[in-house]
Amino acid sequence: PPLEEILSLHDFEAVARRTMGKRGWNYYSSGADDEITMRENHNAYHRVWFRPRILRNVGTVDYSSTILGHKTSMPVYITATALGKLGHPEGEVTLTRAAGKHNVIQMIPTLASCSFDEMVDAAIPNQVQFLQLYVNADRSRTKKIIKHAAERGVKALFITVDAPQLGRREKDMRTKFVGNASSQQTQGGDNFKRDQGAARAISSFIDPSLNWNDLAELKEAVGEMKVILKGVQCWEDAVMAAEYGCDGVVLSNHGGRQLDFAPSPLTILPQVVSILKKRGYMTPSRPFEVFVDGGVRRATDVLKAIALGATAVGIGRPMIYAMSTYGEQGVSRAFEILKDEFETNMRLIGAPTLSDVVPNMVDISSLNAA
Ligand code: FNR
Repeated sequence: PPLEEILSLHDFEAVARRTMGKRGWNYYSSGADDEITMRENHNAYHRVWFRPRILRNVGTVDYSSTILGHKTSMPVYITATALGKLGHPEGEVTLTRAAGKHNVIQMIPTLASCSFDEMVDAAIPNQVQFLQLYVNADRSRTKKIIKHAAERGVKALFITVDAPQLGRREKDMRTKFVGNASSQQTQGGDNFKRDQGAARAISSFIDPSLNWNDLAELKEAVGEMKVILKGVQCWEDAVMAAEYGCDGVVLSNHGGRQLDFAPSPLTILPQVVSILKKRGYMTPSRPFEVFVDGGVRRATDVLKAIALGATAVGIGRPMIYAMSTYGEQGVSRAFEILKDEFETNMRLIGAPTLSDVVPNMVDISSLNAA
């Protein structure tokens, strides 16, 4: 269908399912095991209801946001998803360009199809980019990547901590990986498994021995970049991240692609925020930002996470489905749809700015109920 007929982020997925190559679709759409967590990520948003307020002068609404000190057009960023060229011949630079046009932050994946420098070069002046990092068993390679990112102006490093081993995504495992993996993707990994799907083919270098004691060494290389742990799944680890001097966490289960029956990030968000605050974090003197990703498809989903204390929300699959189906214009359209949804729904809940989107604007009594 023509792009104007795409009215929601869900629509991109429906078109992608019909039109994408099988290999790309199987890699992007798959979740781990029975995909219970993948579905729960989205379903959890259905258990949070608004408590809308009236007569609040919503003549103008402002959904611009600040993420780790950077002004953005909305409290949404493109999270890291690997292998963009399985969906679009130009790959991740299409995301970079659309993000630049809409002042949205892009998180560059370690395992992108485009090279890191191609994605930085595709950015406009002052466009903010973050880097997602998989830590190599060969630490010197990882430190080289970190130093290069700092030199190229990347503002924050998101260290993925939910993937000591890649989850079993059976849909993906049934398709052979036939692309050319770049040295950036294999990073010298020697057991390159082509017959186990795209994910396993490119991830064998990731170091499962990574632990809290390694953080200090990695942090030495980061320079001015902020450090965030991506893939935190309980409050204890969020508190440890803060105690180890990180600047934030992403509550995430990797889009349901790792541990099946990992909780949805939304269900743990209230507790994580409340305990961090009780310990004195998330305050001006000890800033610490909490992000969530997984299953976010609507501005109303984002507003629920904001109300519960998230700084911003990462969106994964909808972005790569938009890219795969309509290229850069599709991704731009996705941002326009979200902007329209923000404007409409902030008016309807009675919140002129994001700072008005506070905990008592949502009812979470069903969120963790049986
Ligand atoms: C991912 N994700 C991911 N995360 C990461 O840290 N490094 C990576 O290389 C990838 N690659 C990747 C590929 C694909 C195809 C998907 C769908 C996801 C996880 C991603 O950053 C994020 O956690 C989820 O995508 C969020 O869920 P939604 O928005 O896809 O539902």
